[in-house]
Amino acid sequence: MQSLTDRFGRVHNYLRISVTDRCNLRCLYCMPEEGVQFTDASNLLSYDDITEVVRTAAGLGITKLRITGGEPLVRPGLDGLIRQMSSIPGISDISLTTNGLLLAKQADALRDAGLNRVNISLDTLDSARFRFIARRGELRRVMEGIEAAGRAGFDPIKLNCVLLRGVNEDEIGSFLQMAMEQPLHIRFIEYMPIGHADDNWRNHYLPLARVLEVADSMGLQYRNRDDMRGNGPSDDYELIGGKGSFGLIHPISDEFCKRCNRLRLTADGYLKPCLYWMDELNVKPALGSSEAMEAMFRKAMDLKPASHEMAAKLADSALSHIPTERRMSQIGG
Ligand code: 5AD
Ligand code: SF4
Repeated sequence: MQSLTDRFGRVHNYLRISVTDRCNLRCLYCMPEEGVQFTDASNLLSYDDITEVVRTAAGLGITKLRITGGEPLVRPGLDGLIRQMSSIPGISDISLTTNGLLLAKQADALRDAGLNRVNISLDTLDSARFRFIARRGELRRVMEGIEAAGRAGFDPIKLNCVLLRGVNEDEIGSFLQMAMEQPLHIRFIEYMPIGHADDNWRNHYLPLARVLEVADSMGLQYRNRDDMRGNGPSDDYELIGGKGSFGLIHPISDEFCKRCNRLRLTADGYLKPCLYWMDELNVKPALGSSEAMEAMFRKAMDLKPASHEMAAKLADSALSHIPTERRMSQIGG
């Protein structure tokens, strides 16, 4: 078997699978308040379809899967999909990114089904502010979800915190304190301009250098942990004397793309070589033929770009390709 290597020598072992574009929140960095046109249920890949795609992917060297959305836990029976995927030879790690609202109810079943890890989105520790960012839902339920994930035995538990200028930047210290006191890994994420026609991004983009400034001002001791680095884009730090850790995800810097090892499958059945650009391949015609499916993955490798050009977008310069029109909720982060 020849591995999935692109024109730039990057080996791909990681597939992110969006199981739905629906969500029970409307986070301002992800979806417009009024929502988007959701994919009709009949156009979603079924769990059997997804399992078939994963079986081919595993044969090509994909070992790690992440389930995303929208909010994946709004699609019924997700534990069934995880059970099916975890029995595929070659798949060694299955993780889930969730907003946590429905996690308390499902944590045990997901763990039993073979889910290895969870990332929970948490951008604020203030319930009124939660309503401002997520526009719906209750912070309390997310906190219950985080606790349930701990009780169910997920380890590590990572919290995704998108930093927004003028919205939650004053909470960096509280999140760092939380990582000192609890065995949680806080991932601070830079706000990315994906499929955004609106002004949220320009108004709220905040470079992550802020995090280390705050840590320094609090007198925290931390150590860069290169050995904590998987192939992922996160720059991780151990908090000396603390129970948890934190990481910085700088999507805008070129390191993000140099280490890229991932492909994405959308809920409506498109393989996306890159989060940022419009190129995508419809896998539905290849269902039923592992040769055709394999060709689809090879084609995705051919189409893989060197990088996104979010820095150019930040500087308002011209871009070399056409950015996707999908929203983050229709890609899965
Ligand atoms: N910029 C950065 N991160 C985002 N996410 C969603 N939209 C964006 C964006 N525009 C992240 C959130 C969430 C995960 C699903 O994707 O952190 O946790
Ligand atoms: Fe939903 Fe997650 Fe997007 Fe927020 S970031 S709207 S929780 S999919």
